[in-house]
Amino acid sequence: MQDYQALLNEAKAVLQRNTITVTVDGKPYERVIPSRDYYVHQWLWDSAGIAMGLVHSNEEAAFNELVSLVAGQWSNGLIPHIIYNPDESRYYPPADQWQTTGFTRNGIKTSGITDPPLLAIAAEYIWNHASDEQKKRDFIRKVLPSLMAYHDHLKRYRDPEDCGLLTIVHPWESGTDDSPRWDSILSRIDLNMIPTNIKADVDRNRKDIRYHDSQERPTEDDYYRYIYLIELFKDLSWDYTKIIRESPFAVKDILFNSIWERANEALAGLLLTYGNQEEANKYQQRAEETRKALTNTWDEAYNQYCDIDVTQGNHRPIAVPTNAMFMPLYAGAVTDQQLDILLHRLSQADEFCTAYPVPSTAINYRYFDKDRYWRGPTWPITNFFIIEGLKRCRTRHKNVDQRAKLLAARTIQMIRDNGFWEYFDPIDDGTKANEKGMGFNSFSWTAAILIQLLNMTK
Ligand code: DGY
Repeated sequence: MQDYQALLNEAKAVLQRNTITVTVDGKPYERVIPSRDYYVHQWLWDSAGIAMGLVHSNEEAAFNELVSLVAGQWSNGLIPHIIYNPDESRYYPPADQWQTTGFTRNGIKTSGITDPPLLAIAAEYIWNHASDEQKKRDFIRKVLPSLMAYHDHLKRYRDPEDCGLLTIVHPWESGTDDSPRWDSILSRIDLNMIPTNIKADVDRNRKDIRYHDSQERPTEDDYYRYIYLIELFKDLSWDYTKIIRESPFAVKDILFNSIWERANEALAGLLLTYGNQEEANKYQQRAEETRKALTNTWDEAYNQYCDIDVTQGNHRPIAVPTNAMFMPLYAGAVTDQQLDILLHRLSQADEFCTAYPVPSTAINYRYFDKDRYWRGPTWPITNFFIIEGLKRCRTRHKNVDQRAKLLAARTIQMIRDNGFWEYFDPIDDGTKANEKGMGFNSFSWTAAILIQLLNMTK
């Protein structure tokens, strides 16, 4: 651990540098943005990940991060994936594009979709790691009603079939925007039928590629479709009963649902600490139904868990080899046989065992792209879920604990070799180790996950 003190200090400095003050509900809050270069607002799953790192250095900041996040909750319970900072314009799409102010309180501006629901997991992590008993109790008391309302909202609107798996309606909700998992569904949205004013808006106003190499970002066609979906949902007045039925993108995503499973367990655990057995049982039961449903997404022919395309009455498995296939580990949903197969795939040099594992897409897949966002690069956040998932199975297989430790060590090394980048080139192609970082630098998530990993391995 001593060797890592300098790295740990650097990680804390990244979080400090990315701290800004915003006024929410008339109160000033300190909040850590993902990156000063582009991601200048608050994203749900970034914020949850950041809060988990923050609790190890500044408990007050960790509490504030999540309290200011739930301030953006809609009156129907949705917690949107972006809570906008009123003073910033360095990101596209801008706040006003969503037309959601009627749904929020006190004029807070937000997006209209959500993110992988990491929030309850972060709250539980903070509960387990904060040392100030009184303050952490106050914090949980403050956020618990919002967490319950958010979970009830998701269950109600995103699982109309009551099958245990939630439906996402936009690639951004998956957190893995341009993953090849979504190629076949998105290709059904014909670019010719996307209105020209939407394309013109993207062409004129898209900002990420002004600040960053376009080879490492989603394509123009992806962006046309992303914005087209937003315009469609706006036309449906953000009514999720209609959106679920009409969206040309509707998926039971295994990554999103694995987090959903774990989040319900976390929420149940928090409710138990407050002696609320009845409510705790409700969320525990939801976790169980999701776990079972995830186990059943295993596809024998492809030897992997598959997302399910449920767009407009479809029910088709999506068998694309990405690191999402390992996420049911995190949900405790794997059978012994499935575990053996996953461990095998994780160790294959032509699939997921690369110089910096675990690539977001198997490297032998025809659409693997080592540079482009979620189509190949390795991300610390998904490694974190895989590590935690392996730990969850540690009593079931003799090598699993060792594998978790090894992946944690290699993730730490990846960050130490290259710096606090958003994502990393996964393969050894002769490029110098210190040139493997990609996306935006000084990235808060990466710093926060490093802090968690160092804490885990100390
Ligand atoms: C982006 O803008 O890159 C995000 O992933 C959308 O939330």
